[in-house]
Parts: sequence; C-alpha cells; structure tokens
Amino acid sequence: MPEERPSTVRANSGDNSRGSSHTSPFSSARRRVSVVWSTGPRSIGLRKCRGPTRPAGRPLLRRGLIRWLGTPMVSPTFHPIGPGYPAPLDRLFDEEAAMWKSNLAWGFEPTRKRLRAALREDALEGFIAADPGGPCGYATFSMNGGQGVVGNIFALPRARGIEEALARRVLEVLMARHPDTIDCQTLFMSDPGLRTPFASFGFSTARRIYMTLDRAAWRRPVEHPIPEPARPVRQSDVNLVARLVFEAHADSREQDASSSFDTQESCDRILQQIVFDGICGPFDSDASRWIGRDARAASACLVTWPMPGIAHVSEVATAPGHRRAGLARHCLSRSIENAFERGGAERITLSVTASNSAARALYHSMGFEDRVLYGSHLFRRGAPR
Ligand SMILES: CC(C)(COP(=O)(O)OP(=O)(O)OC[C@H]1O[C@@H](n2cnc3c(N)ncnc32)[C@H](O)[C@@H]1OP(=O)(O)O)[C@@H](O)C(=O)NCCC(=O)NCCS
Repeated sequence: MPEERPSTVRANSGDNSRGSSHTSPFSSARRRVSVVWSTGPRSIGLRKCRGPTRPAGRPLLRRGLIRWLGTPMVSPTFHPIGPGYPAPLDRLFDEEAAMWKSNLAWGFEPTRKRLRAALREDALEGFIAADPGGPCGYATFSMNGGQGVVGNIFALPRARGIEEALARRVLEVLMARHPDTIDCQTLFMSDPGLRTPFASFGFSTARRIYMTLDRAAWRRPVEHPIPEPARPVRQSDVNLVARLVFEAHADSREQDASSSFDTQESCDRILQQIVFDGICGPFDSDASRWIGRDARAASACLVTWPMPGIAHVSEVATAPGHRRAGLARHCLSRSIENAFERGGAERITLSVTASNSAARALYHSMGFEDRVLYGSHLFRRGAPR
C-alpha cells in the first residue's frame, strides 16, 4: 500500500490550549445570537437574529452567493440527534473519514458502521449543528452505569470552531445525569486541542501524543538478552494480559486522566474491545507479543490494524516487578518486526501520555516521532477542582 504522507499531520509543536483562545464567530452560538447572510428580495447583507435561523431565499441563489462571498459568517443552530437526521449525516461522515485518513492514517469505517447502526436504532445521543448549507458538525456521547463518554466531536472545515459549543452542550447533558466519571479523548476530533469546556466543568486533563514510526525510520534496537522469547498473544491469553495491564497502570492512572485502567473490570472490558470487538481495527495475534513469568504475564504489546498498511500498538505494559529488564523493548521489537516484515506495514502508530517519560524514551529510541498533540480529559465526581 502506498505510504500515507504525513503532510497534514501536525508536528509536535501543538498547543493544547489553543481551543480556548480562538475568537471564531461561532463562539457566540451559545448565546443564540447569530449572524446570517440574508438573501431577501431586496436586501443582501448581514442580519441579526435570535434563536434557530432559517434564512429566506432560494437555496441555489444562497449557495451561489455563499460561494461568491467566501466563508459566510453564519452561526449554526444545534439540534438533539433524533429521527430525521440520519441521511444528511453521510456527508459529515465522508469528510470525517477523509480527515482521519490524512491526519492520523486511521480507518473510519468501523466507526461509521457503529454510528449508522446506532442512528437506525435511534440509540445515538448527541447534537447536530446545522447552518444554511445543512449539517455542519456533530457530537455524540454515551452514559452507562455512571460512566459517561464524550464520543466524536466533528465540524466541517466551514464550521471549524463550533466544537467548543458542541462540547458544552454534550457536557451540560452528561453532568445533569450525575455521572461518577466522564472520559474524553480528543485525538479523533476536528479540534484535538479542545480544552476550555472541559476545564470549565472541572475535568483534569493530560496531554497526549500520537506517534508514528515509518518503515524507513525503524531502527532495530540492541536488546538485553531475554531468557524466553516473547510469544504471540492468543485470544485465550486475554485474561492474563488484562491482569497485567491493570497492575502496570496502577501508579499512572491519575497521570493519564483516564478511567480506563481504574479497576480490573475496566481493564478486562478494554482488552475485550481491542481483541474481540476490533475498536482499534482487527487484532493481530501474531504481531502481538507477551512474556510470561510464574503463570502470569510479565510484559505485553498488543497490535491492531486500523487501516491496510497501518499497524497500531494499542497497549504496551510491563508488570512493576519486572521493569527495566528489557521486556517491553523485546516485546515491542518483535511486534514491530512482525508488523513490518510479515504484515507489510508502511507505518506503525501509537499514543502515549506526554508525562510518561519511560514509555516516550522507549518509543523515541525505536524511531517513533511525535505527530499530534491532543488531550485526555477526565471528570471524577468528588475530585478536588
Ligand atoms: C513503559 C514501560 C512499558 C517500560 O517497560 P520496561 O519493561 O520496564 O522497559 P524496558 O526495560 O524494556 O526499557 C526500555 C527502555 O525504556 C526506557 N525506560 C524504561 N523505563 C524507564 C524509566 N523508568 N525511566 C526512563 N526510561 C525508561 C529506557 O529508554 C529503556 O531503555 P534502557 O533500559 O536501554 O535505558 C513500563 O514502565 C510500564 O509498563 N509502564 C506503565 C504502563 C505504561 O505506561 N505503558 C505505556 C503506555 S503508552
């Protein structure tokens, strides 16, 4: 597969606070005072209006004017997702798929399928933003047994900046349901630096880095000798690896601003999603590696394929009692070798918390480069603000 050029991938100079500072015309949307292009019979100009706006005028003429005048100063209106909206969202999904592919080398299709199914079953919660051109953004969320998750937040290029208003609407609804936790990762959003709405609702935030390793940059490391070689991770090994993941993250949970590793059950759920549900693309049993000691997993590395030619390291962990013995380097090296040589990967991707200097040192030493800075946001009920 031809290599995905990283031309639109932001280098590691991003500013995680940039979502807070923009002065886009869209930021007035929350006050529901909007400015639209009016194309009434005698006037062509700016009109101030309140609430949801449905500008008059023939659509074709309006579209032509918008094209002629450049980006219009239009505030969108916001609607809860519900019956009547499935069809127009296809255009948004197409744009989002293109953004995921070019910015992250990540396939959108499994997510599109899940979103479509949820829309069909009227099981998707969230908001759609619409302007005179139609739907221009959307945000989704879910709430399950006290655990809230903010899903996709996406805006078309003409509506960039409305992510903040979408996030606020989603957070207002989630907070009204008195959750124990709310998690949000902004990597896949059209504004990965979005931060202000989370800060104002009392979330903690960790900066995260999306890293990539291209085949040409792969440096085979000098390894410590390991008594037993790493083995492929079979589906029957999932419980052992889930236990390792829980132990390995015990001391870094707060640093990650994520509730994913809070309990053994949450780690089991995540491993199930990676291995069986394909949330990061199809799981690769042969490229994933683990080392066992005393009937437990001491170290492991899990690999999935979000797109053809792109492998993703979805987990790397070593149990606290086995650290600094070269186990993670060994597992990761075998996984990378396997993905490049057997799997034909052109690129390998992963994400890491910026303050995790141990993991970052490991990844940098193997040739991974920082690509996109984004946020992990966590709300915990009762946590000090
Ligand atoms: C990060 C982690 C996987 C490293 O596992 P490990 O088996 O101890 O790592 P290795 O012994 O193979 O070390 C490989 C390299 O990582 C870096 N490294 C590992 N631990 C480090 C530490 N405490 N401080 C600085 N660098 C460290 C070093 O570059 C090291 O190479 P070196 O030993 O030649 O100096 C382990 O600390 C861990 O499980 N942490 C918690 C879970 C986690 O953060 N996973 C990564 C999520 S993205």
